[in-house]
Amino acid sequence: MNTAINLPVSRSSGLDGVVVADTLLSEVDGEEGRLIIAGHEVEELAGRFSFEAAAHLLWTGGLPSPEEEQRWSTQLGAGRIAAYEALPRLSGALHQPQVMGALAAGVAALGPGSGPPEAQAAHQIAAIPVLAAAWSAQQRGLALPRPDADARHASDVLRLVRLGEAPPPALARALERYLVTVIDHGMNASTFTARVIASTQAHSSLAVAGAIGALSGPLHGGAPGPVLDMLDAIGRPADAAAWLSAELAAGRRIMGMGHRVYRVRDPRVVVLERAARELEEAGLGTPRLALAKAVEAAAEALLSAKNPDRSLKANVELATAVLLDAVGVPRALFSAMFAAGRVAGWLAHIAEQQQSGRLIRPESRYVGPRGATRLA
Ligand code: COA
Repeated sequence: MNTAINLPVSRSSGLDGVVVADTLLSEVDGEEGRLIIAGHEVEELAGRFSFEAAAHLLWTGGLPSPEEEQRWSTQLGAGRIAAYEALPRLSGALHQPQVMGALAAGVAALGPGSGPPEAQAAHQIAAIPVLAAAWSAQQRGLALPRPDADARHASDVLRLVRLGEAPPPALARALERYLVTVIDHGMNASTFTARVIASTQAHSSLAVAGAIGALSGPLHGGAPGPVLDMLDAIGRPADAAAWLSAELAAGRRIMGMGHRVYRVRDPRVVVLERAARELEEAGLGTPRLALAKAVEAAAEALLSAKNPDRSLKANVELATAVLLDAVGVPRALFSAMFAAGRVAGWLAHIAEQQQSGRLIRPESRYVGPRGATRLA
C-alpha cells in the first residue's frame, strides 16, 4: 500500500444503499427493524421450524412437507458423516490458530462434493459444524465423537461441539433457534463475498471459503467472542457505564452495538433474548443475561450521547454471545456457529448468483497522480 498519501475515505466507500442483486431469499428493513426470510418474519420462523425446514425454505422458496424435511435431515446426516470420515486427510487444514481459518481451509479441501445440487449444498452445510468441532477437539487433544446421522442437525451439532456430551433437549432447541435466526440476512459482507466469488463461476466450496473469511472479522461475525470477553471484564451491572466510557474514550468500538442497516433494535436480538429467557425459566439460564441487559442500556445511552445523529442499538452479536454461552458452545467456536447457520444462506445466494450468470465487477475511482514520468 502507498502510505505516502492520505487517502480520503468517502462515506460511499462502504457501498451503503447500493443494490447489487435481486433476491428471493431475505429482506432487511433497517428503519422498521424487520427481517423477512423467504416470505416469513424471522420471529415466526425461528422457534417454530427446524433448521432442516429453514434450509429447505431457502433452497426451494417453500416450507417443506414432512417427507421433504426428512430428506434434508437425511442429507445433512450423511454430510456430517462424510465430513467426519474425511477428517484424517484434513488434519493439515485444521491446524490453524483460529477456527475460521480452519473452516475456510477445510471447506475448500472438501470441495463441493457430488450428487444433485441440493445434496451438494446439504453436504457443505453439514461440514461446517463438524470441522468446527474437530478443530476444537484437536486444540484440546481430544477425539471427536462420530456424528449421529439419524439425529436432528442442531442436536447433533451441539453434541459434537460439546465433544460427545448429550445436550438436554431445551439446549438443542435453543441452538436450533439460533441457527435459524442467523440463516440469512440480506446483502451482508460475507454473503456479498460469496456472490462475488460465485459470479466468476468458481466452485461453490471456494465461495463458501471466501465468505468464511469475510465473516471472521469483528465488524461482522467475529464479535460474539469479544462480547463475552467484554461482559467478563465488566463483571457487574453497576460497573458497565464506567467500563464502556473508558473504552469509548480510548477510541474503541463497543462490540455487539451498532449496525450498518438497522436504525432500531436488530429483530434477531428479540428472538435470541426470548430463547435465553426460556432457558432461564427452565433452570438452564446464565447470569450473563441480566448483565448483558445492563451493558446494552449503558452502551445505548453513551453511544447516543457520543453520536446523537446516529441510532446505535444492540445487534445480533450481543444476544448471540449470551445464548451460545448458555447452551454450552465454547467461546472460541462462536463465529463458527454463526457460519454453521449462515452457510445455508450463502449456498442459496450462490445458487441464485449462478442462475443470474453476471460477473460482479464494480469500479474504483483513481485518485492517484497522473502524468508521472515514465520509468525507463
Ligand atoms: N461503538 C462505538 N462507536 C460506534 C459503534 C460501536 N459499536 N458503531 C458505530 N459507531 C460509531 C462509528 O465510529 C461512527 O462514528 P464517527 O462518525 O464518529 O466516526 C458512527 O458510529 C457511525 O458509524 P456507522 O457508519 O454507522 O458504522 P458502520 O456502518 O460502519 O458500522 C458496525 C457498523 C456494525 C461495523 C459498527 O456498528 C461496529 O463496529 N459495531 C461493533 C462490532 C459489532 O458489533 N459487529 C457485529 C455486527 S452484526
